[in-house]
This record gives sequence, structure tokens and C-alpha cells, in this order.
Amino acid sequence: LGLVNGQATEPTYNYDEAKVGTYTLPDPLLTNSGQRVTDKKGWERRRGELLDLFAQHVYGQTPTDKVKLRFQTVKTDNNALNGLAIRKQVSISFVDYPQLPPIEVLVYVPKSAKKSVPVFLGLNFCGNHCVTMETDIPLSTRWMNKAADVTTDGPNGEPRATEKARGLQVRRWPIETILKRGYALATAYYGDVEPDHPQGWRSGIRSVLGDTTRADNWGTIGAWAWGMSRIADYLATESAIDAQRIISIGHSRIGKAALWAGAQDKRFAAVIANEAGEGGSALARRWYGETVERINTSFPHWFCNRYKTYNKRVSDLPVDQHELLALVAPRPLYVASAEEDQWSDPKGEFLGAVQTEPVYRLYGKAGLGTVTFPVVNQPVGQTVRYHDRTGKHDVTDYDWEQYLRFADELVR
Ligand code: GCU
Repeated sequence: LGLVNGQATEPTYNYDEAKVGTYTLPDPLLTNSGQRVTDKKGWERRRGELLDLFAQHVYGQTPTDKVKLRFQTVKTDNNALNGLAIRKQVSISFVDYPQLPPIEVLVYVPKSAKKSVPVFLGLNFCGNHCVTMETDIPLSTRWMNKAADVTTDGPNGEPRATEKARGLQVRRWPIETILKRGYALATAYYGDVEPDHPQGWRSGIRSVLGDTTRADNWGTIGAWAWGMSRIADYLATESAIDAQRIISIGHSRIGKAALWAGAQDKRFAAVIANEAGEGGSALARRWYGETVERINTSFPHWFCNRYKTYNKRVSDLPVDQHELLALVAPRPLYVASAEEDQWSDPKGEFLGAVQTEPVYRLYGKAGLGTVTFPVVNQPVGQTVRYHDRTGKHDVTDYDWEQYLRFADELVR
């Protein structure tokens, strides 16, 4: 049962395929005035309409204010990971808002690279100290996700990182493999952009930009996506990085942000959404796993306030998530699920990816090329790819193996 203020309510999630019911998806190729899009030019206009609709109804408006950034290299190690990498720690601060915490970016570039290289850019859940065992990465001093090993000795008993969390998520970040395959990796703690709780906006960029009185004021996912674009701003200044080949990647809630970032910012050359689920890759109208009502109840800060008005009338939403996925077109898109992650609704993620096909076709690109849900561990598709791997909600070596191959084929 769903819980609202500790009270049991109607279930706000569903694991019974028989209860999914029927639904009609909005057609991405039908403009707001009912005209049919038949070519790239028409789609470029339609793209603008869809971005507006997602901003007005789902994620909120991303402020267009030009924010002055300062990129400060805090530390460079020319011999990191036993000589495999050049590692940089770069602090992105906000010139006009000195009160905002900087975004601490950790970048690894393969030392053997003869020219600039493509880069995977993804936020992390537990701080940069969690993605590596290297002891000279300082512990994050910010509000910390409780999933990480934390103490509660921050101000007002807020959670803070401890040394125990070092390397906690190395398994999700196979840095050496990524480097050996000729890619750079850039990551930053998502809580640097905005702490992940309803009051988190008070200490992040949303405290200075946006308008909290508006139903379409941006939410936390919008802020994280904005942060991704600011990191891309920095990466574009790095000669070791090929700024034409920045891959936006994210898992789960961070995958939702990676998608919204990739939809809005065409500098992302490809997008990888690992188990991004509800409010990410999964169709909202498919009443399975987590639902719109459930996500808005558990995480009231993630989306704009207007999104909550759809809790009990999802079919009134002017968009659905397949249209978010389609906003990545014609760029390569990877949607991934895990069999034991029914909360994210693997089938709903697959069907979202299926529905992007007509948009990719406008560019002469092949999408998934199938409407049949694939067997586990069997990636399908071309420019749009999908897999449902065995196992739980996570990022595994299997996932990375597919992403690296996808990048080799389509981004290089
Ligand atoms: C929760 C949430 C999901 C989210 C996930 C995650 O399970 O309901 O929507 O994707 O956390 O970020 O791991």
C-alpha cells in the first residue's frame, strides 16, 4: 500500500500486468495544432513544442539566465591509477553567487591518448570519494545521501560522508576499463548541484534562479540536468576532451536527469539512461511499477508542482516519456533495464524506446527495429538501443560493456 503521511492509501504502485489497463499515447509527430510532422524541419519545430510541454508540465522551466562560471583546477595528477590516467579535480563556482557551493568535478583522461577523446559524463550518488579507492580524493563535506556510509554530525544532524564510504561505488564506475577503451570520464556528486531532499533547493542553484511561486518552477531533476550542462561548459574548455563527443549517462534518478539534460542540450552527443524508470524512460501512462502519483508523493521536490496535478489523471498529461526519449533524436540513445528492477518497469522503458522509432526514421536512422520485448541480456537496436539485463537495480560491468560498445560504434 502507498503511504501518505503514514496513512495507508490506495496502492500507488502496481506489479500486476493484468491491472495495467489500456492507454493511448500522445503522438510525438502531431504538433500542438494537430499538424503531422513529416520531415526533419518539421520535427525541429515540434522539438521546441515538446521541450516547452515537458518544462510546463513535468520538470519545470530551466532558467535561461547566463550564469558566470569560474573553472579552477584544484589538483592535477599526471600519473594517476598507476600511470593510466591524467586526473584532474576541477571546481566550478558561480561568480555572481559566491554563497553557492561549487560543483567539484573529477576527470580522468587516458594518458596514452594522442588526441582529444570522447567523455562519459555522469553525476554520482555518494560523492567523488565513492567512485574510486584513491585516498587523495577529499571526502565530500556536503549533505550526503543516506545510501552512503554517513554520520549525522552535519548542521542540524544532517548526514555527512565518512571515510568508510571511500570506494563505496567503485563497482559502478569501472574507470580503468573506460580509460583503456580510450574514453575520458567526468563525474561530480549530484548533491553538489542540489541536495536530494525537499529543502535541498535552499542551498543550490534553485535558491537564486527560478520562481518558486510558479506551477512550472523547475524541480531538483531540472537542477541536476542544469548542473550536467555546466560541467559540459567546463569540459568544452579542456583540450584533452573532445567536446563534440560528450556522452550524458546516469542511473535511476540521475538517469532521469541525464535524459532531461540530453533532451535540452544538444551538445550531449549521446544519452544513456540506466534504469531511469518513472519520470525517466518508462511510460507514465503504463500503470506498472512506480507511478506518477507515487513518485510525486515520495519525492515531491523532483518535478514541477504542476506535475502533481496529474497524480490521478495521468492520461491528461500532454506528453509521455517516449517523447522525452525522442528529443534525443537523431543522436544515439541507450535505454537499459534490469529484470529484477520491476519498480522501474522494464517493459514500460522498452515501449518508450520503441515509440521513438518514427522520429529517428525522419533522419534516416534505425531505432530499435523491433516491437518484441527482448530476452534478457540480449541488446537490441541500432541508433536507439535497449537491454534488459539479469539482476537488480544497479549499474554493472554488463551494462558498461554494452555502453562502451555502443559508444565505439556510434559516438567515435
Ligand atoms: C527510488 C525512486 C525511483 C528512482 C530510484 C533511484 O526507487 O522511486 O524513481 O529511480 O529511487 O534513484 O535509485
